[in-house]
Amino acid sequence: MTTENAPNIPLGVPTAARMYDEALGGKDHFEVDRAANAKLYQVIGENRVRSTALENRRFLGRAVRYLSQECGIRQFLDVGSGLPTARNTHQIAKEADPGSRVVYVDVDPIVAVHGRALLADNSTKIVTADMREPENILDNAQVNGFLDFSEPIAVLFVAVFHFVTPAEDPSRIVAAFRERQAPGSYVAISHLTTDGMSEKEQQGWYAGFAGATVPLVLREEKEILRLFDGYELVEPGLVRPCDWHPEDDGSPRTTSLFGGVGRLARAS
Ligand SMILES: C[S@@+](CC[C@H](N)C(=O)[O-])C[C@H]1O[C@@H](n2cnc3c(N)ncnc32)[C@H](O)[C@@H]1O
Repeated sequence: MTTENAPNIPLGVPTAARMYDEALGGKDHFEVDRAANAKLYQVIGENRVRSTALENRRFLGRAVRYLSQECGIRQFLDVGSGLPTARNTHQIAKEADPGSRVVYVDVDPIVAVHGRALLADNSTKIVTADMREPENILDNAQVNGFLDFSEPIAVLFVAVFHFVTPAEDPSRIVAAFRERQAPGSYVAISHLTTDGMSEKEQQGWYAGFAGATVPLVLREEKEILRLFDGYELVEPGLVRPCDWHPEDDGSPRTTSLFGGVGRLARAS
């Protein structure tokens, strides 16, 4: 479904996009999302959950800035983009080049509804689609008619693969995107991890997302590393997001996530 189709917003069930918005202090969520986050806060601690969300968001910002300013990337496909908030991908990318093109993709139709204001300029698009069916994104005219896949593109999967189950085969999904990318393209991935996370925190994350529209899957560091197969990890590799190209950006420090950026050196 694209923005042209009527949105079918799930009101009675929490969604990852709205829960994340609440954790970041946004306004685009409902009581059902606050109730789901209350479960997370009760078990894990409110500060820890909000810090995890913000650490992830800061990583996204630094990764986009690195890709646009240091790697010369002018095209971004932000998959599982979430609701618009402060410092979105297109705003950071356009600081390097106002002509940068960005496509946001999210399975939750509320993202397109709230993101319409972003479409005020014609260098940003929003598509409602499910990355578990990558062809629906890669063969979507709004995507491939807008981004030039013969030139480098950064595909962002920031805090989204923990909503993909092993049966849905995350490696297959990354490979589908990688196979369309030109050499010199990049991928950025962050992911909730069991490494360094207490049993209690793990149970808290699962309890919070138990009734959500997408399932939650925590992964070990080595499983997250495998998502970069076919790419060369740029320095400093797969690390805690706060340690990836750190800046004075107020990033909290948790041990709930890993994040990294990979470069596609050759056509795969
Ligand atoms: C935690 S938010 C992350 C938002 C943003 N990437 C960031 O890091 O700030 C995860 C987003 O992934 C989206 N998502 C989950 N499963 C998805 C899927 N199968 N296809 C596309 N988007 C998905 C959710 O709707 C949500 O907006």
